[in-house]
Parts: sequence; C-alpha cells; structure tokens
Amino acid sequence: MEDKYGLHKVVGRSRAIRDVLVMVDRAAPSRSTVLITGESGTGKELVAHAIHYASPRKDKPFISVNCMALNPGVLESELFGHEKGSFTGAVAMRRGRFEQADGGTLFLDEVAELTPDLQVKLLRVLQERCFERVGGTEEISVDIRVVAATNKDLSALVEQGKFRDDLYYRLNVVQIPLPPLRERREDIPLLVAHFMEKVTGENGMAAKSFSTEALNYLSGYEWPGNIRQLENVVESCLILVPDAVIGVDNLPPEIRDEDSQFKSAVDLLPFPLDLADTLEKIEAALIRRALVRSELVQVKAAECLGISKSLLQYKLKKYGITGH
Ligand SMILES: Nc1ncnc2c1ncn2[C@@H]1O[C@H](COP(=O)(O)OP(=O)(O)OP(=O)(O)O)[C@@H](O)[C@H]1O
Ligand SMILES: [Mg+2]
Repeated sequence: MEDKYGLHKVVGRSRAIRDVLVMVDRAAPSRSTVLITGESGTGKELVAHAIHYASPRKDKPFISVNCMALNPGVLESELFGHEKGSFTGAVAMRRGRFEQADGGTLFLDEVAELTPDLQVKLLRVLQERCFERVGGTEEISVDIRVVAATNKDLSALVEQGKFRDDLYYRLNVVQIPLPPLRERREDIPLLVAHFMEKVTGENGMAAKSFSTEALNYLSGYEWPGNIRQLENVVESCLILVPDAVIGVDNLPPEIRDEDSQFKSAVDLLPFPLDLADTLEKIEAALIRRALVRSELVQVKAAECLGISKSLLQYKLKKYGITGH
C-alpha cells in the first residue's frame, strides 16, 4: 500500500484507512466528482493527490485551488480566467484554473467557502463542463475531473441555506470521509516512524527514536489537529531534542496529559466486553509486569503498584500468579 501512490504515500494499516484506500482505488479510474470530507489535518489534500495519481489522468495537470485563500472577485478570475480589459488591471487575457486543469484534475479545497454567486458558476461547469472567462462571451469547454474537499458539514450548510443543494448533490457523487486520527490510533506508531524518516532524511540527521512510554502517550492523545499536528510534534521533537531517544519529558505538555496513556491501552480493547472480567485481566497483567520489573521482589513490585505487600500477596493468590 505504501508505494502505491508514489510520492503521495498514504500511511496506515487500520481498517478505517484501508476502507479509504479501497474507495480511492474504485473512484480513481472514473471521471466522477469526489467529495472528500474530514476534520482539519486528516489528509484530504493527500487523498486528492492519491486519486489523481491513481487515475488515467495522472500525466495531465493536478491543479489545486483553495476557495478560502482568495477574496471572491479574485477567485472568480482565478478559476475561470479573464479576457483582456475585462477589469482594471486585466492587461492581458489570462487562462483560469479550469482551463489549466484541462485533461487533468481540479482540486477545490475548502469548497464550503464559495460565495452564492460562485456556487452557481461552479454548478454550471459541473453540469455542462463549459464556462466563459470573466468579461468574455466565448464558451470554453474543458475535460476535467473535479475533486472537492471540506472540513465543514456541507449537508448542514445546505439545511441552513448557506450552500446550494443542487451544487451539493453535484459534488457529493462519491464521498470519501476521512476518519479522525483518534479513531485509528493503531496507525500512530506507523505515522510516527514515517515522519521521523521523512524529517531525518530531509535534514540529513541521524536516526532517533521515541521511548516506549513516549510512544504510548502519542498513541493515547486526542489529536484535535489530526495528522498535521502529529507531524509537527514529531518534527519539533526531532529538531529540539539532542538525545537519541526522545522521552516523555520532551513531549509538549498537552500530550503528557495523565489520561493519554490510559486511552492508548484502553482503545485497543474490542467491544463488546465483560467489564468485571476485563478489569481483572488488566489487574493481573499489571501485577505480572510489576513483578518482572522488580525482578520478583514482592516489596518492590508492591511499591510499583502503590499497594501494600499483603494486598499484593492476596492478589497473587487470587489470580494464581506464582512468581516465576
Ligand atoms: N495517511 C497519511 N500518511 C502520511 N501522511 C499523511 C497522511 N494523512 C495526512 N498526512 C500528512 O499530514 C499533513 C496534513 O494532511 P493534509 O494537508 O492532506 O490534510 P487536510 O485534511 O487537507 O488538512 P486541512 O483541513 O487542514 O487542510 C500533510 O503533510 C500530509 O502529507
Ligand atoms: Mg487541506
């Protein structure tokens, strides 16, 4: 899976990311419009690239437009181009992104930000694959594949009257929802390794690693900024920590949060489960670990666990742990 999309490696082996890759594979060969949804930093742009490079259009341009970055007037001429003299400053004819993307893929990022006026114009391109440049009358037709992305709930915006329903249906032909990172924590160690390799490679640095405990914290954190945030944390640790092993103390404070480690352990347990039975198994496993760590010295093991020696002995008997 890793080498599939060349430079646009989608790292992960969780069920959730596999489902995404299956959809990418199925959607790529067609010209159907794809809507990629997901929280900020979940990999929407990466997946848009993956679709393009897995498609028959891969040798044609991939043109990306961020609908939020430009003010509406500029965005219109950016998308559709303009004729010479169509407005002050339009000293020459200019082809827009739709024309540049001819034969290839046009990626409309943050599509929820389009003004009502531009929503109408986009709808027409999607329906008829043709448009006019700003200030022009000539009808220009293009062969493009549109991939759109948003971190907003478009159907909610439709209900609030902020996004045209007809455009929504045109965009939402194939929807690829990207899961937040906290719903696929098993991918975190892989992503950490991937970003470490990337950053050390780019900077000609010696390889480093995270301690097991630090990795547990990374795996348990909520990651509101998803993969982008994880990438930034890995990079800053690599750059700022001189030691070969990055420990818990080197992690940003929000990640060192007490609950993080718990979550990484607990999230791996499958539902449905028997709570009492599961808690006993966890208790027994922790006692075994404490014994191993303290080289079977019971006083030390009890100390590791924060309980008295007599309570430890009671529990050893209860769980039938013999001490070797
Ligand atoms: N599965 C993945 N494997 C490897 N890298 C990934 C993966 N998903 C995302 N990334 C990386 O994480 C960063 C953020 O991804 P991307 O820019 O695609 O997210 P986004 O959903 O477009 O975010 P935003 O909503 O903030 O624009 C990028 O550097 C991207 O390469
Ligand atoms: Mg993006």
